[in-house]
Amino acid sequence: MGQRILITGGAGFIGSHTCLVLLEAGHELVVVDNFDNSSPEALRRVEELSERSALTVVEGDIRQPLVLDQAFRSRGAIDGVIHFAGLKAVGESVADPLRYWDVNLNGSRVLAAAMEQHGCRTLVFSSTSTVYGEPEQFPLREDMTTAPVHPYAQTKLAVEQMLEALCRSSSWRVACLRYFNPVGAHPSGQIGEDPLGVPNNLFPFITQVAAGRRDRLQVFGDDYPTNDGTGIRDYIHVMDLAEAHAVTLDHLLQQPVSSCLTLNIGTGTGLSVLDVVKGFETATGLTIPFDVVERRPGDVPRLQACPEQAKTVLGWTARRSLQEMCRDGWAWQQANPMGYRQPA
Ligand code: NAD
Ligand code: UFG
Repeated sequence: MGQRILITGGAGFIGSHTCLVLLEAGHELVVVDNFDNSSPEALRRVEELSERSALTVVEGDIRQPLVLDQAFRSRGAIDGVIHFAGLKAVGESVADPLRYWDVNLNGSRVLAAAMEQHGCRTLVFSSTSTVYGEPEQFPLREDMTTAPVHPYAQTKLAVEQMLEALCRSSSWRVACLRYFNPVGAHPSGQIGEDPLGVPNNLFPFITQVAAGRRDRLQVFGDDYPTNDGTGIRDYIHVMDLAEAHAVTLDHLLQQPVSSCLTLNIGTGTGLSVLDVVKGFETATGLTIPFDVVERRPGDVPRLQACPEQAKTVLGWTARRSLQEMCRDGWAWQQANPMGYRQPA
């Protein structure tokens, strides 16, 4: 049966794909977004793709109780919340930590208070694999030590802890999903990742080099203790990640009592920067010119999930291959060379 779900940050990269999956599953959605890092066009396309008209948009900041109040009242009682809204640039969090603590932690606190006020205590929260810091043992299990090394990850871990405390204090049902590296796009090429300015992340940088928007990729370091010396990450197709949210929400809504889950959401496969470059070249038939440069400050050599817990608890596993991540991300880039800023 369809539920009424409130989605913060629903216009963003992961949020927009998740909204589409939820609409296709028959849910009704209320999205709260201030479009700080996204465009309303993403939500217009989500509705068009879903062929349903079941999405209300409330434009505003999650730190403002009145905005959340409006969202909670806009369609009727909310069954559950998925909380994507937040800031995610590691370097920016080092330069401006107060902004990160305000948006990520304070924003989550204001949201939780609004949920209590409106009698909704079911929440899926976007956490990150960077809470593990610079681990030495792999794959990463949820019970391993967390040791975040920058304010971005520190704020995410603090929110996890705040939510755990709520679960202990009253009957909240919470899932903190620790995402690994989401990439790719919906296979239609109509929605995807739309970074402002020069992309921070590997995957959108590669697609922009492929499209001729940038000359060459810079590979940040080839002297890490990995197979080819470049950094290893666990890349996951954004549609797999979006589906994980739908499954998590269904799971939480079936829990009769208070429950607090923390789950890695990754594939379990570690790929180096050069593996991704080669995979992209194979999937598209294009060549990605690159130079190896200095390590990027703050980067860790390797992050790779053990995804077993999500499989056991939710029955969810990532299904899509690197080839699909590259094919779909490239289709989005080709159809939308300037992202949402010009008509496809
Ligand atoms: P995104 O920037 O594309 O989406 C975030 C959305 O939140 C945007 O639409 C933005 O406009 C909105 N937003 C930001 N601050 C807001 C505020 N104060 N009030 C209302 N809306 C606000 O990012 P994403 O990649 O979709 O990430 C979603 C969540 O997942 C974030 O919390 C991020 O930290 C987390 N996460 C992302 C990654 C990743 O690699 N993309 C990895 C781990 C965790
Ligand atoms: N890299 C390059 N060149 C680039 C960009 C990245 O060589 O132009 C390398 C990095 O050094 C790293 C790998 O590619 O080894 C992945 O880097 P990304 O910037 O794509 O991703 P990160 O793992 O650094 O961080 C991302 C998000 C975080 C999130 C984290 C979850 O930026 O918000 O994934 O693992 F928390």
